[in-house]
Amino acid sequence: YVIGVDLGTSAVKLLLVNPSGEVVEEVSKEYPLYQEKTGYSEQNPEDWVEQTIAGLKELVDKFSGNPSDIEGMSFSGQMHGLVLLDENNHVLRNAILWNDTRTTEQCQKINEMVGQEKMIQITKNPVLEGFTLPKMIWVQENEPELFRKAKTFVLPKDYLRFRLTNELHMEYSDAAGTSMLDIHAKKWSKEICDTFGWDLSFCPPLVNSHDHVGTLTKDVAERTGLSEHTDVFAGGADNACGAIGSGILSEGKTFASFGTSGVVLSYEPTGDKDYQGKVHYFNHGEPNAYYAMGVTLSAGYSLSWFKNTFAQDEDFDQLLDGIGDVPVGANGLLFTPYIVGERTPHADADIRGSFIGMDHSHTMKDFARAVLEGITFSLHESIAIFRENGKQIDTIYSIGGGAKNPDWLQMQADIFNANVVKLKTEQGPGMGAAMLAGYGVGWYDSLKQAADKILEAAETYQPIPNHVTQYQKLFPLYQHVYSETKGLN
Ligand code: XUL
Repeated sequence: YVIGVDLGTSAVKLLLVNPSGEVVEEVSKEYPLYQEKTGYSEQNPEDWVEQTIAGLKELVDKFSGNPSDIEGMSFSGQMHGLVLLDENNHVLRNAILWNDTRTTEQCQKINEMVGQEKMIQITKNPVLEGFTLPKMIWVQENEPELFRKAKTFVLPKDYLRFRLTNELHMEYSDAAGTSMLDIHAKKWSKEICDTFGWDLSFCPPLVNSHDHVGTLTKDVAERTGLSEHTDVFAGGADNACGAIGSGILSEGKTFASFGTSGVVLSYEPTGDKDYQGKVHYFNHGEPNAYYAMGVTLSAGYSLSWFKNTFAQDEDFDQLLDGIGDVPVGANGLLFTPYIVGERTPHADADIRGSFIGMDHSHTMKDFARAVLEGITFSLHESIAIFRENGKQIDTIYSIGGGAKNPDWLQMQADIFNANVVKLKTEQGPGMGAAMLAGYGVGWYDSLKQAADKILEAAETYQPIPNHVTQYQKLFPLYQHVYSETKGLN
């Protein structure tokens, strides 16, 4: 058996998995999010550690087998969060998370000092409020005393792994989201560090996702009931692990995931493609591979906002029941899901959403369909960029909340103009972490072999030609709304 640990934003999820990829036991433990001011989003790294240890103990207690048969463990983690450490590797302040947007000024400063083009050239991505470097500069500017004590920094799951093993590293797929890694050369950028007066030794040593980094400490073994000999492998960013866990491991393979945020991610065999920074481009969890990724900030979040604001008495199934009977285009109602700003392709923290074309005849069902169409269009903007740059996308694996509703799956096929495949069982990034551990302990020859063995398609939704034509007419209108509403707030 192996354990996949998924350190998320609201909870840590632990999966105990056997070599066939079956989840034998599962535990989830929550922790708080601190949002003291608008735009702030922090967590206490100690909460991650304590809840993971408590969760591991619960998992071991639930397991009917022998804990010493649990051979390995690996991690998936929320990306970009800054954990600053002092010379004793003690945490200096709460972690500033990926969804914290306080750093607009720092992004501007980075673009002025390093150069916008240069940032894209080195890191393959524009610097964004959510990424790690601007958070570091924010602390340097606003908490200088504290920053002077900083000796190094890591990302959330790298910190958690450090506390379980006493070995400190950062792993490439996560390092790619710091805005400090030369993602092509797989080296920390000296140019970026020099610009801000930091020695390269400020950056932690880098490892691959499947690298063996150590075993559990005696204390963690005692507290959890796991063996001290449990092998620990580095793991990956949640999106990289989501890619592994849904088999996005060869050219052209793509997933669309609708969680709180929405993600469309496509495998890139090299770091050579040039999307001019319009979509994210990060190192994969598979060594030397990459992925291109589009993110819409409010996917499921738009839907839950809509439900909580206008349909408190309904649950999601009731709200979405019958949206398949509403015609394509929601009877002329159009929604843009920018309720907390937008990531790709606009990278605009200030834009806000809209409903356009409201008619006195519109019903709750029209609105619900419009919300789903808007969310799906926002991911389609990134798919369109992939295709404009020569990427062929015929099949998209739909994972997360968007794979639960058949009407929405058909809508994805129609808007994306691709076959949309729902997997038989899908466990998200935690399964990708477990597959890394399984690969690490020698169960599989490659991650691809693991995916071929474990993953199975359940249903395929094919695009309906006349729906595709209607959405192709609506999509430019959807795109137009962004520029026309930009000055609204
Ligand atoms: C990716 C991103 C999010 C977090 C969520 O760039 O910010 O997907 O990784 O955990």
